[in-house]
Amino acid sequence: MVFAITFEGMKYIEVFDQDGLKAMKISEQEAPKNSDFEVKIAVYAVGVNRADILQRLGKYPVPEGVSPTLGLEVAGEIVAIGCQVQGFKKGDRVMALLAGGGYAQFTVVDYRLLMPIPKHLDYIQAAGIPEVFLTAYQTLFILGGVRPKEQVLIHAGASGVGTAAIQLAHVWGAQVSITAGSDEKVRFCEKLGADKAYNYKTQSWSALVWEDTEGKGIDVILDCVGGDYVEKNIDCAAFDGRIVLIGFMANARAQEINLAKILQKRIVLKGSTLRARSLAYKSDLINSFNRDFKAAWATKELKPIIDQVLPWELADQAHQRMKQNLNKGKIILTIS
Ligand SMILES: NC(=O)c1ccc[n+]([C@@H]2O[C@H](COP(=O)([O-])OP(=O)(O)OC[C@H]3O[C@@H](n4cnc5c(N)ncnc54)[C@H](OP(=O)(O)O)[C@@H]3O)[C@@H](O)[C@H]2O)c1
Repeated sequence: MVFAITFEGMKYIEVFDQDGLKAMKISEQEAPKNSDFEVKIAVYAVGVNRADILQRLGKYPVPEGVSPTLGLEVAGEIVAIGCQVQGFKKGDRVMALLAGGGYAQFTVVDYRLLMPIPKHLDYIQAAGIPEVFLTAYQTLFILGGVRPKEQVLIHAGASGVGTAAIQLAHVWGAQVSITAGSDEKVRFCEKLGADKAYNYKTQSWSALVWEDTEGKGIDVILDCVGGDYVEKNIDCAAFDGRIVLIGFMANARAQEINLAKILQKRIVLKGSTLRARSLAYKSDLINSFNRDFKAAWATKELKPIIDQVLPWELADQAHQRMKQNLNKGKIILTIS
């Protein structure tokens, strides 16, 4: 008996060493095959994230068992489906939260990490949703426990995660403050729903936040900066404030922390990375996100904020733009 060996190739973005730098090029490899609980997606658009840049530089280890290809969020069409998949079928337009493998023509993902694309959104817009909206939702609501009318402070307000967090907190009825690195970004965030916005390069945001909240402080802080922000976060946190760390773009180490203030104000300091969470956790997160915010997509109160759309041949240009902190919202790569 002769068995036919089927090889289905696909293009993907390969990271390789070139003159001591980590370069990227479009290469070919075998397309992934979906298992019983997975779907195979023809990827039409992929969102660019800070994590992609870190991974490319070898500074963000890929979780075990995950595709080493870059890319944490995609939008596309289901082209194959496992026998245990429920609620989705071939031809469905979906967006997916990935732990890797998005910079490719095809990717496979467990069906519990899929979301249908809202009817009025195209693939490009949808690719800017899963990673940043789910991260912002997890940080503010699951870990931060934001309640309506509470004070929220979002650092890097114009980032992909920041633009999602501003909208979610605003729709929830919280009072939103943000920090950003230019007056242009400050105005941009105000238009998105921030009630107060501070340019951290020209203003002492921690003292101003304290004044502007009339000495009550902030209930939930989303911090992806770290370094000396930790001390300032503690300074402007309210009694029973929750500070959630999801990154350390300035510095992974913080000095000058006054522990007495944490005790006196009963502050909770938490940290999390979404990528490393279990399938069950991510699946529950998606379900709660849909429960709380699905309607807000339909009413267009929530929208993905797209900074630039580039063909994937220009992935390096997209990374450079992000590295230089030029983007406001998401950069999306289209895949052909
Ligand atoms: N833990 C998790 O699960 C998780 C998941 C997703 C993302 N993240 C983290 O969330 C952050 C945002 O990700 P993203 O993809 O949305 O990023 P992004 O769109 O690239 O935006 C990042 C922004 O942060 C600001 N920034 C950079 N360095 C800074 C510094 N030293 N001090 C103050 N602000 C600085 C810049 O804006 P300005 O011009 O305003 O300075 C920059 O544009 C990253 O740290 C990322 O690693 C964490």
